[in-house]
Amino acid sequence: MKNPQVVETIEAMHEVVEHARRKGLVVGLVPTMGALHAGHLSLVRTARAQTDFVVVSIFVNPAQFGPHEDFHRYPRPFERDIALCTAEKVDVVFHPDAGVLYPPDYRTYVEVHELQEVLCGASRPGHFRGVATIVLKLFNIVQPDIAYFGQKDAQQTRLLQQMVRDLNVPVRIEVCPIVREMDGLALSSRNVYLDPEQRQHATVLYRSLEEVRTRIEAGERSGARLLEVLHGLIAATPGTRLDYAAIVDYQTLRPREVLEGKVLIALAVYVGNTRLIDNVLLDVGPRG
Ligand code: PAJ
Repeated sequence: MKNPQVVETIEAMHEVVEHARRKGLVVGLVPTMGALHAGHLSLVRTARAQTDFVVVSIFVNPAQFGPHEDFHRYPRPFERDIALCTAEKVDVVFHPDAGVLYPPDYRTYVEVHELQEVLCGASRPGHFRGVATIVLKLFNIVQPDIAYFGQKDAQQTRLLQQMVRDLNVPVRIEVCPIVREMDGLALSSRNVYLDPEQRQHATVLYRSLEEVRTRIEAGERSGARLLEVLHGLIAATPGTRLDYAAIVDYQTLRPREVLEGKVLIALAVYVGNTRLIDNVLLDVGPRG
């Protein structure tokens, strides 16, 4: 099997993509922070199926980590990531050093107001500014036709769709479904932090969201009553602490008291010291 070409500089990346474009190839980009798992690989497979030239970026972006977050201990199994990219027939892995993307005189950041301050943005100030900034940089460096993101990070996806629209970025965003373990836990590079007992408790996110989905399907439309269910289930699980539970309109990410239209039910829960997120996106339809 052919290894992907590993590219570390912006100039080399431009050259490689220009070459692909001259051949008339459609370019797909899958931005990641590495520590690849089946969730990432589902994005890569979709890119492989829909485009001719697949670029995976692996960059642990310092700008999206808070000062007390896990930037330094975030897993970086690069050789394993390359082996996985080889198996998925990735054409190029873009893997720059932090200094390449953020030289000492770096000054410019992208903000998506309203959408960046709520949900995960409330507990991680500056996080989405870092995400929007790196993703726009990656779009400019790689110039993909289509970029692939996971529904797992629903707020990130929503915010990036807004950024692309507001700034007229000529990239199409494709959203891929959440990949889960057999017991429902959403795959995440941070799951490796969980010990066996915490790993068991971590299923509470999915179980709670499924309980809420069932109640909505049975006709419940009260945001407050559904939030109570989420709060109760998390509180009943040892070793966990709720960061937030939210039921919001998917367009605005603002709370919905009476559910209608596209509704995002989102959870962030600490299991031990590990913060996990999960969500379901439902179209509840018009007010009944
Ligand atoms: P990372 O957490 O590595 O995730 C990369 C992509 O994989 C994101 O689009 C994320 O939503 C998707 N993903 C992660 N787990 C998934 C799962 N279980 N099912 C489906 N998709 C999943 O998200 C980031 O990196 C960064 O913020 C990034 C966009 C790369 C900017 O730095």
